[in-house]
Amino acid sequence: MAIISSKKQPQDPNGEPKQNHKTAKAAPTEDLLQPAAAIDEQGKQEESIRPQRFADYIGQKDLKDVLDIAIKAAKSRSEVLDHLLLYGPPGLGKTTMAMILASEMGVNCKITSAPALERPRDIVGLLVNLKPGDVLFVDEIHRLSRMTEEILYPAMEDYRLDITIGRGSSARIRSLPLSKFTLVGATTRVGALTSPLRDRFGLVQKLRFYEVDELSKIVLRTAQLLDTPIAEDGATEIARRSRGTPRIANRLLKRVRDYAEVKSSGEINESVASEALQLFQVDPCGLDWTDRKMLSVIIEQFNGGPVGLETIAAATGEDTQTIEEVYEPYLMQIGYLSRTLRGRIATKTAYHHLGFTPPSNGQMSLL
Ligand code: ADE
Repeated sequence: MAIISSKKQPQDPNGEPKQNHKTAKAAPTEDLLQPAAAIDEQGKQEESIRPQRFADYIGQKDLKDVLDIAIKAAKSRSEVLDHLLLYGPPGLGKTTMAMILASEMGVNCKITSAPALERPRDIVGLLVNLKPGDVLFVDEIHRLSRMTEEILYPAMEDYRLDITIGRGSSARIRSLPLSKFTLVGATTRVGALTSPLRDRFGLVQKLRFYEVDELSKIVLRTAQLLDTPIAEDGATEIARRSRGTPRIANRLLKRVRDYAEVKSSGEINESVASEALQLFQVDPCGLDWTDRKMLSVIIEQFNGGPVGLETIAAATGEDTQTIEEVYEPYLMQIGYLSRTLRGRIATKTAYHHLGFTPPSNGQMSLL
């Protein structure tokens, strides 16, 4: 399994590395509840707990059913798998799914991300080295440069590389055949893909947040791989606070394991997990400082909303993209936030969760 490059540095619209707004807040939960992979998690440890086959992959049943059929059909025709676009919030297993596809097909998986494919030669180098049937996984595919995207069109459609030699009137195009391959693109922002690129994917599939019982099974599986004693109620308590996201569940498990080893017998049960997660300021629904701040600003300063995204970003010190891609999807999923054309609205459930009394029905805009 070749790892060509890993995660991006956050960038501002000019492509400069972004300043970290969050250093002043220093809330202990910030990294714990971020669905983006931490540096160490991209290394050996995440690999050792990553499921390798569909049989070990918990959740995303609809997606697994669709892919299982596509794999069986491609194998029976001795064809390569159609190009696949996976979209959904971060941390739900898009990379894992691409790796499993490759192992189920019995081929290699090369992994890269759009920010690592800035120059045309980056993508050319990858494409010419693909073996028949290989999977090429491109993370954050909505961030591809126009030139890279244009190289991908004939490569995806006809397994052909068109290279322009020379400039101006003497420019000529030379075509090179490529091995047939499967492009798996992953994105948190499917709407940001250009339509020519989106249209070249034969399969477009969404990953959804996991249910508590699915996350609980993931926590039990990971605990077994890490040789950590855990009771079912301990796994459920961690699952409940993991924002529907396996990467967060596995990260919380490791922190709770440390707590259990230092503060009690080492076994994780409901009360140990709950004490530990309270210490790390992960609330019973998995909300962190930023979620609570977003909701309390809407409730306390704007009478429940609607409030514009920019205002919420200014109040929390987060950038608008992180709010839209990381915080809001989960708050909407659990029914705490509505997104309307006029702005964001806190729901009655959010009022209750934060200990506020919701205004009477007539006074709330859209609950
Ligand atoms: N670890 C992370 N995601 C997983 C999943 N979906 N199934 C099993 N283990 C996992």
